[in-house]
Amino acid sequence: MKPRVLFVDHAGVLGGAELYLLDIVRAMKEQSHVVLFEHGPFYDRLKEEGIEVTVLRSSDSVMGVERTGGRLDDLKAIPGIFSMVMQLRKMAKDFDVLYANSQKALVIGSLAAKAAGRPVLWNLHDILTADHFSGAHRKLGVFLANQFIDHVIVNSQATKDAFGESGGDLNKTSIIYNGIDASRFDSIDDHEVAELRTSLGLADHKIVGVFSRLTPWKGQHILLETLGHLPEVHALLVGGALFQDDHAYERSLRNLAERMGITDRVHFLGFRDDVPRLMKAVDIVLHSSTSPEPFGRVIVEGMLANKPVIATGAGGAKEIIDNGVDGLLIPPNNPMAMVNAINQLVADPVSTEKMARAGYQMARKRFSVENIVLDVQNQIRKAVGDLDVLTYTETSTPSI
Ligand code: UDP
Ligand code: GLC
Repeated sequence: MKPRVLFVDHAGVLGGAELYLLDIVRAMKEQSHVVLFEHGPFYDRLKEEGIEVTVLRSSDSVMGVERTGGRLDDLKAIPGIFSMVMQLRKMAKDFDVLYANSQKALVIGSLAAKAAGRPVLWNLHDILTADHFSGAHRKLGVFLANQFIDHVIVNSQATKDAFGESGGDLNKTSIIYNGIDASRFDSIDDHEVAELRTSLGLADHKIVGVFSRLTPWKGQHILLETLGHLPEVHALLVGGALFQDDHAYERSLRNLAERMGITDRVHFLGFRDDVPRLMKAVDIVLHSSTSPEPFGRVIVEGMLANKPVIATGAGGAKEIIDNGVDGLLIPPNNPMAMVNAINQLVADPVSTEKMARAGYQMARKRFSVENIVLDVQNQIRKAVGDLDVLTYTETSTPSI
């Protein structure tokens, strides 16, 4: 019998972790129910796809806790946490296993699962370092994981290493990379791409693009500084300010573009649902994160769009790209390195095309969504004590 799984994620918006979860639950719809802590585009998307979803009555004090926030806010959140744990505990009794897909989901989900007597998995999508989390939040995450979580799925070796360095029990971790559905990219034809470039008024220009939410560590400011050195190049900034303080960063980017006098070449497109089409419309896909990227779906997506990808060489990016073979890695926080990498690709179209092709083939092979779903299903089966493991088809290659 297929285990019934209660997936838990705090976010109502569509970040990479939520898009990953969407692929997993889509593949196991009839045995899944998703619990979110707020309404938003993620909720709407799950509903549209016919996936069962519930929003908990969430407390503002819990939703307001920030990753790098202080202890006072944590203390204020305790009554709210208790109420949410009780709601989730009641639901959990109708399921075989819980699957927490975010940090807040870990806190509420691990306590609710144990109170209901159910096993619980945690999918860790973040690198637990001081760049992103306060010391107290790292300690709490690791404590809950070590005490209550049956198995921790991590999205890269880099994420696993940071979990271990924070004191996490590495014996219960498995690396499962994200998978990306290549058909969303393959189905786009050249005519559609040409039309899109024309509609953006950029038919005859060199275009680079960054496809990440607007937040300081995604490093869109590095891209703007890069453009200052490349007067012919236009840039698409695809992505919205998804979380709490990110609107201030968006304003600072717009101000920077104005101060640099490059507003005519910087195109802020906001959050978009047609990333594959937009990626196909640019000449180079850039990834500009200033701290190590836990995984980096956009890197794999750039490859599936058949584009040369330049990424900052830290964290998951180093596990995806073989530098010089299927993409380019540059040091983080270094606009001149980005300028040089762009110039290198533009100067040698033959090698660049070869690199893009190698990236496409590698991404199809290593990051197939079907295989990743199987890996996740196997971990779920193990957590409920079913050792009958699902295997890849002959044409597929293992993801781990
Ligand atoms: N994305 C999107 N619309 C946008 C910008 C980004 O759908 O306007 C998607 C992007 O295609 C990718 C995900 O958001 O699948 C971002 O995932 P990634 O792992 O790169 O970074 P995260 O935001 O999760 O840290
Ligand atoms: C997180 C990470 C990102 C990763 C995604 C999916 O949002 O920031 O690097 O690709 O989760 O695992």
